[in-house]
Amino acid sequence: MKITVLQGSPHKNGSSNLLANEFIKGAKENGHSIEVLDVAHMNMHPCLGCGHCGMNGECVYKDDNQTIRDILLSSDMVVFVTPIYYFGMSAQLKMVVDRFYSYTMKLSDKHLKAVLITAAWDNNEDVMPYCAKHYEKLCRYMNFENCGMILGTGCGSPEMTKTSVHMQEAYQLGKSV
Ligand SMILES: Cc1cc2nc3c(=O)[nH]c(=O)nc-3n(C[C@H](O)[C@H](O)[C@H](O)COP(=O)(O)O)c2cc1C
Repeated sequence: MKITVLQGSPHKNGSSNLLANEFIKGAKENGHSIEVLDVAHMNMHPCLGCGHCGMNGECVYKDDNQTIRDILLSSDMVVFVTPIYYFGMSAQLKMVVDRFYSYTMKLSDKHLKAVLITAAWDNNEDVMPYCAKHYEKLCRYMNFENCGMILGTGCGSPEMTKTSVHMQEAYQLGKSV
């Protein structure tokens, strides 16, 4: 299976990417091929909502969205990796999701498998449900098969994350796909 990992954090060596690396380690051990896209550092623009693409055509922007699109359309699984920013995904990752608009039909026809990996500072039950619900709805809308979520509470820094239970959870999820 070809797995594409979309890293949505400005911190290249941050908490969400640490968890993603554990997932990748497990998935690689299972023989899957992994492509990592550091979308937070790619040349991306937010969707203009201009409607030029008609949800199934060329976007007016000629930026890295074309690369992301081509890679996702040749993948079997997408992994969304993000820090929690005000109870949702980062703007960097949301920009990629919004730009699905120009290839929504092609992407939903793929029936991709999907995973969510998040990291947040707080460690209580009121941190993650909002991002998780959004992701679950996105999966239903885009015909993605939700294969699991790593909801990294108490992962506010790489030091906190390395000693959290979520590292092992992420590895196990990688091994399970
Ligand atoms: C703009 C911003 C918003 C944040 N919002 C939240 C939040 O709502 N809840 C929370 O627990 N942590 C919040 N945090 C903390 C980050 O989620 C946390 O530090 C996380 O580990 C960062 O992951 P990263 O290293 O992968 O970027 C926020 C941080 C920033 C910079």
